Amino acid sequence: MTTDIERRVGNLLDDSQGKGREHRVSSTASVEDGKQFPTSVNNIKPTSKLESDSAKEKLSAELKQKQEAMKGSDGLKAMLAFREQLPAFNVKSGFIKAMTENQVLVVSGETGCGKTTQLPQFILEEEISKLRGADCRIICTQPRRISAISVAARISSERGENLGETVGYQIRLEAKQSAQTRLLFCTTGVLLRQLVQDPQLTGVSHLLVDEIHERGMNEDFLLIILRNLLPQRPDLRLILMSATINADLFSKYFGNAPTLHIPGKTFAVAEFFLEDVLEKTRYNIKSEFENFEGNSRRRRRQQESKKDPLSELFEDVDIDSQYRGYSSSTRKSLEAWSGTQLDLSLVESTIEYICRHEGNGAILVFLTGWDDISKLLDKVKANNYLGDSGKFLVLPLHGSMPTINQREIFDRPPPGKRKIVLATNIAESSITVDDVVYVIDCGKAKETSYDALNKLACLLPSWISKASAHQRRGRAGRVQPGVCYRLYPKIIHDAMLQYQLPEILRTPLQELCLHIKSLQLGTVGSFLAQALQPPDPLAVQNAIELLKTIGALDDMEELTPLGRHLCTLPLDPNIGKMLLMGSIFQCLNPALTIAAALAHRDPFILPINRKEEANDAKKSFAGDSCSDHVALLKAFEGWKDAKRNGAERSFCWDNFLSPVTLQMMDDMRMQFLDLLSDIGFVNKSRGPSAYNQYSQDLEMVCAVLCAGLYPNVVQCKRRGKRTAFYTKEVGKVDIHPGSVNAGVHIFPLPYMVYSEKVKTTSIYIRDSTNISDYALLLFGGNLVPTNTGDGIEMLGGYLHFSASKSVLDLIKKLRGELDKLFNRK
Ligand code: CDP
Ligand code: MG
Repeated sequence: MTTDIERRVGNLLDDSQGKGREHRVSSTASVEDGKQFPTSVNNIKPTSKLESDSAKEKLSAELKQKQEAMKGSDGLKAMLAFREQLPAFNVKSGFIKAMTENQVLVVSGETGCGKTTQLPQFILEEEISKLRGADCRIICTQPRRISAISVAARISSERGENLGETVGYQIRLEAKQSAQTRLLFCTTGVLLRQLVQDPQLTGVSHLLVDEIHERGMNEDFLLIILRNLLPQRPDLRLILMSATINADLFSKYFGNAPTLHIPGKTFAVAEFFLEDVLEKTRYNIKSEFENFEGNSRRRRRQQESKKDPLSELFEDVDIDSQYRGYSSSTRKSLEAWSGTQLDLSLVESTIEYICRHEGNGAILVFLTGWDDISKLLDKVKANNYLGDSGKFLVLPLHGSMPTINQREIFDRPPPGKRKIVLATNIAESSITVDDVVYVIDCGKAKETSYDALNKLACLLPSWISKASAHQRRGRAGRVQPGVCYRLYPKIIHDAMLQYQLPEILRTPLQELCLHIKSLQLGTVGSFLAQALQPPDPLAVQNAIELLKTIGALDDMEELTPLGRHLCTLPLDPNIGKMLLMGSIFQCLNPALTIAAALAHRDPFILPINRKEEANDAKKSFAGDSCSDHVALLKAFEGWKDAKRNGAERSFCWDNFLSPVTLQMMDDMRMQFLDLLSDIGFVNKSRGPSAYNQYSQDLEMVCAVLCAGLYPNVVQCKRRGKRTAFYTKEVGKVDIHPGSVNAGVHIFPLPYMVYSEKVKTTSIYIRDSTNISDYALLLFGGNLVPTNTGDGIEMLGGYLHFSASKSVLDLIKKLRGELDKLFNRK
């Protein structure tokens, strides 16, 4: 599959082919300043420069005339009828009135009632019909790229226009808007970047912040800024939109702003919990698990249930008495059920059950992440239990999928086909998949959690909240009565939290701190104390410390030149730094690949019954490098070659690699390349060799890796015939069993950098690379003289290096030159 992005970027990364350096063509109808992509969102502002009042009047009249003309057209009558039956339509006049009379308004209403597509449109129509079209600039933020695009497209077609006329969108690196655009959908991230250029949001008349109930970090952050901005912009109207009825929290935050609830209209959705699903499908959980895990399973279950209070709760249930009316196989299955791991075969059985026994209608499956989606995608596609595979259209839906593929989700399947969408919680409230009648809910979502004390961040599947479960169920009742199959027992549902913890309380804050600094919002701590629910001061302190350590902030907590570049990359600062260093030190290709794996996931598959073979395959990629990252690079390169030769399938199969993940990584590499080009670090027209001179030089690659991963460093200490590993924060750690370095007793070099630490029975470091002290000395954290004056120490104490004064001076000079590189860009 050649993606559009690949075609657009040409073959910049591919040394073997020097052709095709096309510019991207799909977007940016109106990027006027001669740059390929808008770095900032300056053009969020009205692009037309209307000097005189008469020109404004003329435009307003034109807009009104066009709008009136469209209303009467036959083509739009059906659309209008559709819009009028949405619950939002009933509150139209009340909404307009409340919005006119108040600066802030909080609107809540069930998913699908028409908040996102109708409310901004009501404002637009009102402004245009009151001849204020020329002065109106409505912005509506979305937490995700894909919803920004799909909603803008939807509204354009509801208005009988082309996308990019009155209604447009802007997401990172892609925009469709014009001088006529009056309503713009953008991601929350895009608006935050716009605020750097234009803290007053000049020219914006109405701002709608959507999906605030999700309590995303960007949204919570934006609300602090807006609360401070409102008194300075009395003419700006702010509308907050939420899918759940927790409007009071937001209302209070904005000085008891009025709230408006849109009464819903959805169809009844029948609900079955695991106990009933098992009865229906006759699926036997126990036999599935017995097959492949045996003892290790019990051990793992014990470990994992410790972290999982809800599953632990289920273990106390007396299955026999509680489920007396159920068949014995169901009771056995319930006993064997371990909520810690999703049983994909159960999901398959449920899909099969629906296809065999239920009527037409799309199936929406909520899974935890890309991992499960791609596994299930392969399984469903490969299996013929559904009979004729031509009757099914199986589609993945995941937030980091390239937008091009995502559009398929919205298309109705061809007649006679059943659509099966495998999604993450992205389909919960922001994406409305048309025609869903059946929902299968696994009950979990990947959630970041952050342990500020141990500086441990994890992205693990966790139980969703009751509010989310309710949302998921509601997705089945939009077009007709539906059914929701929950793959967990009712007792788990009853124990779920009412609402999920806001993201700001459970993620590392370094990216947010960079934002605060670039927006010049004062000291991070005091700014964040104004949040709806302020984060733990220790988490704030950790983030600042990390940013100082990697050289993004100076001692005064101000942005360094490197920090300023990192602000412009919408990425974790460590990943951003690796990409910048990769392009400076001519290892762009490997830096992109490793960054993609870090930001997404690695492509190695570990089938439970063939773990050893899979590990061997990974080790053979690593060679004698003692590096999981090198294994990754070699595997990726091998896949590229195999793909060119049409041997992708067998290559992936033989080497235990996920083709879907590799493809996703490849797409992400292109996105990263766009980002680097956007901030001027890569000039695409210079061709690949300009950035890849040292791409095959593993020592250089490992040094760049060290720059990106620092301070994730452990020291390797010989203990007899073995090596032990130590970190500064948590002391002794172990190498993850899935690493190529697991079981290696002696390492050639004294340090190890790693991608992440995870805590299960002990603390493991995952994906590690053995590196030299020189790599650390030159590319690691800031250096300070030792107390005794005999050498230098790395900030954080990872390295103590004794050397003569002249050597130390030389190192300092080299590092000074390195820092200057960021100044020059
Ligand atoms: O924002 P909210 O969840 O309240 O609803 P919405 O996104 O405005 O969607 C209202 C209705 O418009 C949905 O029920 C869909 O039937 C329809 N819609 C659509 O057909 N295609 C889209 N891309 C978005 C919405
Ligand atoms: Mg919506």
